[in-house]
Amino acid sequence: MAYKTPALLLSRNRILRNYRELHSAFPDFEIAYAIKSNSFPGIIETLRDEGSSFETASWAEISFLLGLGIPPEKIVFSNPMKPSYAIEKALDAGVNVMSFDSLDEVDKLAVFRDRVKAVLRIQVPNEGSMWPLTGKFGVASNRWPAILERMKKKGLPLAGITFHPGSQCETILGWEAAMKHAYDIFSLARSMGFQPEILNIGGGFPTDLGRPIPSVASIAKVVYKHLNQWDTEGLKPKRLLMEPGRGISGSAGILVARIIGTASRDKDWAFLDAGVFSGMMETIDGITYPLESNAPGEWESSYILCGPSCDSVDKMFTAYLPKLREGDIIAFRGAGAYTTVYSSNFNGFDPPTPYYLDELPEGDAIFALFNDEE
Ligand SMILES: Cc1ncc(COP(=O)(O)O)c(C=O)c1O
Repeated sequence: MAYKTPALLLSRNRILRNYRELHSAFPDFEIAYAIKSNSFPGIIETLRDEGSSFETASWAEISFLLGLGIPPEKIVFSNPMKPSYAIEKALDAGVNVMSFDSLDEVDKLAVFRDRVKAVLRIQVPNEGSMWPLTGKFGVASNRWPAILERMKKKGLPLAGITFHPGSQCETILGWEAAMKHAYDIFSLARSMGFQPEILNIGGGFPTDLGRPIPSVASIAKVVYKHLNQWDTEGLKPKRLLMEPGRGISGSAGILVARIIGTASRDKDWAFLDAGVFSGMMETIDGITYPLESNAPGEWESSYILCGPSCDSVDKMFTAYLPKLREGDIIAFRGAGAYTTVYSSNFNGFDPPTPYYLDELPEGDAIFALFNDEE
């Protein structure tokens, strides 16, 4: 049977290797896979069977995981802004580790002060991140005292601290700065009588998108350098967590699309059967992917790659490729994260179909999978 485009080829083995690499570099950490990056059940089940925990952003994600047999103690609810009904449902289900980063959320969580483990999300620099999260999330250091005072007033204990260095963080300086901030907030909180026990270092682990990235080992070196220093002061947190999404699912997927036509205007445009609304959403803010194609010839024609919809936002990025014709295949490597989870049926176009393979193919082996397509 030939596969049909658009497709997302997924490797469970790659998911496992990525998980295990993190696990061996961060042996003291509980890994909570961020299911927002790719929530296909085949991936969740693979990680569940490996002993992973999971990071969620909504009640819907939590109940989906519970339905797959994940115990509530292995789920963290790290969306810092949650509707009250979701907080209550999660607690009733036994999920109690929850992030917050505003006075409003302190007030909401304080209603459940005896049951919730409230984890403060601090703002850290997101430089070097291809998909920064600072601004919308995290409490800046000048507001830490106000948040902690409010917690005191409301009787809400501080269970821990979390941060996110920004998704696809391409420099270890991101973790260097974040760990310094984490130390400062732990010290401040303790001086105010709190006893935080959790440190959650979030996500940000980069995947190979064709640019230089730090290795997992080099990130671990920075994080452990700080933790070992904290340890000498008796300050090492009791529970260490991380929430990688892209670092686990990114390299486990290849998105495969076909050219449906080209158009020459002031520039050359290549239209594919997948675009911004069918998986390539992150391209609108600068993410690009390494490409493979079965089109013959030299890779010297510049094209603006765009999706099939009748919307001008549906424009991905410019790339050098061989001269393209209808039916040619373009494969986007490193596309296992934040692709299909964003896709819709906009304009009537199908989202990519997932196909599970033991290992991801390369070059001609990718194109061979799609050979008999009508
Ligand atoms: C709270 C939280 N944790 C973890 C992640 C996963 O981040 P990444 O995919 O960069 O590892 C995100 C991504 O947005 C997030 O918002």
